[in-house]
Amino acid sequence: MASMNHKRPRDDEAAKGGTSEEDAPKLTPLEREIYHARLEKEGALLFPIVRNDSTDAAVKMLIQVKTVFTQQLPKMPRAYISRLVLDRQHVSLVCTFRGEVVGGITYRPVMSQRMAEIVFCAVSAKHQVQGYGTRIMNQIKEQCKRDNIEGMLTYADNHAVGYFRKQGFKKQVTMKRERWQGFLKDYEGATLMECLVDPTIDYLSTRQVAEQQRKAVVQKVSELERAEAGSGATASNRNVTSAAAVVGDLSAARDVLHKGWAPPVLEVRYRGEAQTVEQVVKTIYEAVSAHEDAWPFKQAVKHEDAPDYHEIVKNPIDLSMIHERIYRRPCYYVTPDQLLADLYVMFENCRLYNPDTTVFWECATRLEAYTRNRTAELHVERKPRVHD
Ligand code: ACO
Repeated sequence: MASMNHKRPRDDEAAKGGTSEEDAPKLTPLEREIYHARLEKEGALLFPIVRNDSTDAAVKMLIQVKTVFTQQLPKMPRAYISRLVLDRQHVSLVCTFRGEVVGGITYRPVMSQRMAEIVFCAVSAKHQVQGYGTRIMNQIKEQCKRDNIEGMLTYADNHAVGYFRKQGFKKQVTMKRERWQGFLKDYEGATLMECLVDPTIDYLSTRQVAEQQRKAVVQKVSELERAEAGSGATASNRNVTSAAAVVGDLSAARDVLHKGWAPPVLEVRYRGEAQTVEQVVKTIYEAVSAHEDAWPFKQAVKHEDAPDYHEIVKNPIDLSMIHERIYRRPCYYVTPDQLLADLYVMFENCRLYNPDTTVFWECATRLEAYTRNRTAELHVERKPRVHD
């Protein structure tokens, strides 16, 4: 695709915008997440995915979101915005509040590369700084999960880099260049940024999950403190033991409370030897993919070979995708369990699609047994990170 060197700085006047009399009260990020979830449940806040399928409803909505983009990105030629928003390879996630389009994202999914290019992102002036931009981005991450897209790339306007950073985008692009070069439109005065999408995260509840975890730690610490002070007679031993098991020990738990949580240190032993996660993940992958029953899993199932495959198998995965996840920088797997989860999904997919009389079914079952056998001597211990 030809590179588009359009300038996209934000017009300060338009950007300043105004605040609406309808402005939501000042909320913490957690309160905002709960507030938006409630509005979504009530149907007041919606995030339809809109493609130009020539229906009046789709075109009308696309024109409304295009209007937000032209107002918020005033230096970007209007005709250029219209063309891309209405283009059939582009998709828009539109945010509507009580029937009014308040913002959205236009993106181009590149399914063959499992990545998406974010082309335009904006919220109307009177709705800015009320969390809509965050919710829109979290909704698009959920859409990426549904579409099996592993990462998003964007050329962020320099003044919007801070916003994208808060949404998990980084200037360091870890996707292999071949996956995105030639697929992105680049812009003058903009910064290339990447956000990887983790399929295990519920992006619409991150604040609530963090709050639940914080409360659980507070509760465990107070149980342990009561026990330590000798006033724990009322707390059953079982509770105290389970609390200790969860938080390790009291000082580690206090660290979590006072200094913040850090991922635990993983100690991985494989066949009696201490190894790094990456080493062990590579060893298991190489052994499984070299097995004589691995041939059906080497590449993704092609549409021409099984036209209904993607209707039946919702989370397709194959060894080439696992290879890509291991060998890209940084390695996608942060624990060996994640690799095993991918492998077991792969076997399950195969048995879901193929009858048990087929050679594919047999290969999946034998290779699964081999994987279990091969990882029987894998031990992973999670130790709370020690603070200085
Ligand atoms: N720079 C730094 N931080 C920002 C910016 C910014 N330009 N805009 C918002 N933030 C921060 C907010 O303070 C908030 O921080 P917090 O979570 O600590 O409270 C966080 O980012 C999210 O704020 P939201 O209220 O969720 O975002 P908002 O609804 O205001 O939408 C957006 C952000 C889309 C950038 C909006 O301000 C906008 O439309 N700006 C004009 C158009 C624009 O610049 N779009 C991006 C162009 S690049 C591209 O389209 C690929």
